[in-house]
Amino acid sequence: MRLALSKRLWAGIPTEGSSLDYMPAHHADRVVKCVVMDAPAHLHTFETGAPMKQLLGNTDSLQLFPLAYPWAWDMYLENMDNHWTPREISVANDVALWRSDRLSEQERHLFLSVMAQLTTFDVQRGDESAESLQGIIDPPEIKHYLKRLADEEALHTWAYQFIIENMGLDPEDIYSRYARVPEMKARVDLATELSSRAKRAWAKRVFTPEAALSVREKQEILFAIIFWFLCFEGIWFVMGLSGPIQNLARHGKFTGAAEQFQYILRDEFQHIRFGIHLINVYIEQYPECMSTSFVMAIGRLFQETIRLEDNYMRHCLPSPIVGYNADDHIETAKWYANQRANSIGLAPVYQRAEHRFPWMSEQVSMRKEKNFFETRPTEYRTGGALSWDD
Ligand SMILES: [Fe+2]
Ligand SMILES: [Fe+2]
Repeated sequence: MRLALSKRLWAGIPTEGSSLDYMPAHHADRVVKCVVMDAPAHLHTFETGAPMKQLLGNTDSLQLFPLAYPWAWDMYLENMDNHWTPREISVANDVALWRSDRLSEQERHLFLSVMAQLTTFDVQRGDESAESLQGIIDPPEIKHYLKRLADEEALHTWAYQFIIENMGLDPEDIYSRYARVPEMKARVDLATELSSRAKRAWAKRVFTPEAALSVREKQEILFAIIFWFLCFEGIWFVMGLSGPIQNLARHGKFTGAAEQFQYILRDEFQHIRFGIHLINVYIEQYPECMSTSFVMAIGRLFQETIRLEDNYMRHCLPSPIVGYNADDHIETAKWYANQRANSIGLAPVYQRAEHRFPWMSEQVSMRKEKNFFETRPTEYRTGGALSWDD
């Protein structure tokens, strides 16, 4: 069951560039009715009916079983079945292409810009999971999944480095570009800021465990979780991995890198799916977080995510390349924003937004996949079987 929120909550959301701040919820309307999946009955307390393994507290994080969140364990097993390494995917054609005269300056700029942002993003995402979220959330099965998630971000970082090394790209340029390009740095800075706010709540739990978290502190944590799973991974990663480079691959360029991206994307969709479960459980356990002003702030967060994606993509793609343009890219990103909002029971962020790339599903998904646009994960295979042609 999902949250039922009126679309009117979105009315009056300030436009792009507005503050992401929100007011404390001490007198806010209670706008949430949310039930996610229940833990088994024996894992609920008799007094309150609440899960014994609360996300924040009341949980022995060393006792893994019995599970209160079996979906987290199941997803962990799915991820493990899906293991891959970048060495299994050749980028030889990309190396030859890069050394040839078959690339325009625009195409080289696009490729370097996408690689630069993704390398930094995966380092940052891995750090966030390992250093922040794992310290905040208590149930061991959730932490267990997050350990795998952090490891997969490290794997993705390796995949980019594999490409950089084989193609002979300048690592100094690639890895430092985020700090020199304002359109990239703004996104990294937003992620850093939101993590810092959540970490303050985490520090309070560590250093003053007797003190209860305030509603504001619980909101800071939830806000960061929503950002990382639904905005950072759910929009920025998805658009970066499935967008312009995949289009070039359709035209025979960067096919090796594009295939590496496809494997990374398959992992990311699973991370997003996990995040949606986690967020819905969090809202169920701490419904006091979802004040009207907080929900409005989530709307502004999605808008800010899109604004920064817009700036970034216009830097990468100042003019169209083989039919791919920034306007269609942003329209599709808005479509994803609506999907992400819907996944946690919120109304669409944008009144109208459409997916502009009908080829994308075929390009980046496995043939057997039921629905690339995420009603369920891709079909997982064991033993690192990497072909998706049958
Ligand atoms: Fe990643
Ligand atoms: Fe991820």
